[in-house]
Parts: sequence; structure tokens; C-alpha cells
Amino acid sequence: MRTPLVVGNWKMHGDLATARELAQSVRDGLKRPRGVEVVICPPFTALAAVAEVLACSAVSLGAQNCHWEEQGAFTGEISPVMLAELGCRLVLLGHSERRHIFRETDEEINKKVVAALRRGLQPLLCVGETAEERRQGLTFTVVEGQLRAGWAGLSPEEIGRCLLAYEPVWAIGTGVNATPTQAAEVHGYLRGLVSELGSKDLAPAIRILYGGSVKADNAAAVTQEPDIDGVLVGGASLQAPSFVAIAKKSAAKGGAPKE
Ligand code: PGA
Repeated sequence: MRTPLVVGNWKMHGDLATARELAQSVRDGLKRPRGVEVVICPPFTALAAVAEVLACSAVSLGAQNCHWEEQGAFTGEISPVMLAELGCRLVLLGHSERRHIFRETDEEINKKVVAALRRGLQPLLCVGETAEERRQGLTFTVVEGQLRAGWAGLSPEEIGRCLLAYEPVWAIGTGVNATPTQAAEVHGYLRGLVSELGSKDLAPAIRILYGGSVKADNAAAVTQEPDIDGVLVGGASLQAPSFVAIAKKSAAKGGAPKE
């Protein structure tokens, strides 16, 4: 039983006033969402302000990254303890922009996943292949490697607290989204791996989101696929009307969770 989850990744956008306004509009547009859970991930600087706006609302708070240590001499880093204190419920880890621009390794991402779990944050691990890797037929190999490394050493109980996102790199911010069939194929593969890495019972329980150029007009087609349990939204989460529409279109029909 999986309730669809819609996560907005604001990336490095917005001053405080804009962040408050956007969070208010999302909150007001989703007062009683049925059959969908919604999380927004503002930049670190806006987390406290957005937490205030979202207090007692149906929309939760998440962060875009964290360090693996709880405190110490790590100039410029933010720890999972700090995020938990601000009311974050989840943290994005291994986003392709972190992997490719900031050269984060699978090992570092794994340490972050472990640290997030220790502090009660749900790690939303992102995996996905580049256009070149897909062209070479390496899609499954790449996502499998990233998943095995990202979840290395986790117990089935810990895997049960994790979230996963398939985000083909060629679809992020490009306007070229994977077709529902292309995405569903990878989601099915990932779900098979969850069964191996966690347990057979976990495979139908873990939520696997799709991310990459999700817009209001393609969200329904993507989330109708049985193995796709919601979406991770970048650009379209910066406008409240489009993000609210995506959340509503991703809701399980009639408010019932996906089986
Ligand atoms: P996009 O970004 O929706 O702008 O393609 C998705 C993401 O980076 O998570």
C-alpha cells in the first residue's frame, strides 16, 4: 500500500520573501489533499521561514542535501541534526547535480543516507543514468550500482524507512521527460532490487518516485504507472499553480492508496 508522494525541489532559487509566498500558496492550494503526501525542499536559508509557514499544515518540509557528520569542523556543511531540528522530514541525497557538479561519490552518499536515518530523516536517494549511458545500454547497470552503493550496509528495517527516486539525468531541466513506459521499466527493475537488498515484503512497500521534467500536463500519465509512486519536481515546483496541479494529478484515484 503506497500513498503517492510529491516532492518539490526548489534548488538554489528564491529569496526569503519569495520562499514564504510560494510556501503559503502551496499550503493554501493543498489544504486537504486526498490520496497524496506533499513535501517541499527549499534552500537551507529558507528552511526556518518555510517551516513556520507550513506548521500544522498538510505539506511537510524537506532539505536538498546534508553532511554525514552530526557536528564538527566542516566549514559550509549542514548536518542531519540541524535539519531535524528545523522540522525536516526528509532529505534528498545523491541528486545528479550533487553527483555531477559537486563530484559526490557513492561512498559519500551512502554515509549521508546512514546519517540521515540515524537522525530520523527519510533519505530520498536519487539514481539515474546520463544520455550517453542510456545510449550505450547501461541504464540498468548504472541505477543498480548507485542503489547498491547508496544503500550499502543498511538493514531491511532501515531500507523500509528509505525513499527512492529514478531521475534520468537527460530528463532533468531539459523539458524532455522519460515516457511513462521508459520510467516504468526502470522502476520495475529497481523494485526487484529492493526485494533482493531488503526483503520480499519491502518491495511492494517502498515508494519509488520519478523525476525529470515533470509538469502539470504529464504528471498524471507518469503517476498512473503502477510502479511509479509519485514525482520529484524541480522547475515546476517554483510556481504554486503548477506544483499544486501536479500534486492533485498524482493523487491515487478516489484518495485510495496504490496497491
Ligand atoms: P526538473 O528537475 O523537474 O526541473 O527537471 C527535477 C530534479 O532535479 O529533481
